[in-house]
Amino acid sequence: MEPFADRLTKAAEAPADREKTASRLPAELAIVVPTFNESRNVPLLVEALRTALGDIRWEVVFVDDNSPDGTAHRARALALEDYRVRVVHRFDRRGLASACVEGILATSAPYVAVMDGDMQHDETILRDMLARLRRGDVDLVVGSRYVEGGGMGDWTRQRIAMSRFATTLANTLTKTAIGDPMSGFFMLTREAFMGSLPGLSSVGFKILLDIAASSPTPLRVAEVPFTFRTRQHGESKLDGLVLWEYLQLLLDKMIGHVVPIRFVSFALVGGSGVVVHFLVLTVVLQTLLALFGAADEDRWFAIAQGVATLVATSSNFFLNNILTYNDQRLKGQRLWWGWLTFNIVCGIGLFANVGIARWLYQRHNYLVLSALAGVAVTTVWNYSMSSLFTWRKRR
Ligand code: GDD
Ligand code: MN
Repeated sequence: MEPFADRLTKAAEAPADREKTASRLPAELAIVVPTFNESRNVPLLVEALRTALGDIRWEVVFVDDNSPDGTAHRARALALEDYRVRVVHRFDRRGLASACVEGILATSAPYVAVMDGDMQHDETILRDMLARLRRGDVDLVVGSRYVEGGGMGDWTRQRIAMSRFATTLANTLTKTAIGDPMSGFFMLTREAFMGSLPGLSSVGFKILLDIAASSPTPLRVAEVPFTFRTRQHGESKLDGLVLWEYLQLLLDKMIGHVVPIRFVSFALVGGSGVVVHFLVLTVVLQTLLALFGAADEDRWFAIAQGVATLVATSSNFFLNNILTYNDQRLKGQRLWWGWLTFNIVCGIGLFANVGIARWLYQRHNYLVLSALAGVAVTTVWNYSMSSLFTWRKRR
């Protein structure tokens, strides 16, 4: 790669006729493009936008999460050749929805579009979308794969069925009538976005659904059909966790104002830990009894209980790392350090649990209630302490 200083000089010496094609007036339309490992697609997209948008005053904002393939670097190189290309480079973060939000907040354009950086979205409909918004009778235009004329490109049947199901669920639960609420391709007015901003969950990847469901007044929506293209380079980043993230978003929209959705996830994982505990306890105890007989049963029970606790705590830790803290997942060395702090936190939590349950039981003699109170206090303790020490946000 050429050093930036050189590129900058070159850019300054670029032929003056660029000025003719692109007026230096502020952008009316910003296209926000979240990227992760799209370095080969980024130049293609910029070229496609130039062709599609012609004399419209536009800018493109790439929001890249420090892609290992150097997407941000590539985008900055383009930015030195064309001032309409901009880059927001995020470090140590992941997340499609939050990337879109930050991209939209980084531009002043009165109209903003969000689109994929892999050429799957048809940039030629941006013009129609903008024309639709300019008329002023809608707040949001969705690039839709379901209305007549729209299509699914080369999606597998399973993916189509899943997408349909998710759509029905979304429309029922959030009371927004968008034909394709899962679309990652849409354009809206800044006012509409600002209205939704305080209510956004920004979890997962369903940013359109999030925006529509967070609006204080129902958004006026139009849809423009397009055919989903095949990816140019690279691969999809949406993995098996999308369904889970999607459920988290829906839950957050329904009960997020009462309990934080992270806590719900943490508590669910805790529940799974109980199941794991009893499974391990039974298997280990039975094995020990079969091997060494029942004479020392007390001792075998203690050992089995210890093993079960360790396995269940570890299983909780790894599940939380993937499901509850997917956006700040610990890896490598930090994973083991996290495991250790998690065990310490939960160890203290266990003492608190037993202490409280016992105290209540002595006073009131309600077995189940005392036990549940202990579990509840411990869950809250484990949740808050592990968020402080195990999945602490790094500065
Ligand atoms: N900054 C950032 N951070 N960008 C990301 C991240 C992330 O963690 N994950 C994915 N992206 C970028 C990709 O680089 C791509 O430009 C865009 O977000 C969409 O990701 P894809 O991996 O291409 O998603 P897809 O093609 O499987 O899914 C598309 O269709 C869905 C419809 O079911 C997307 O348009 C989804 O938004 C859409 O919901
Ligand atoms: Mn894609």
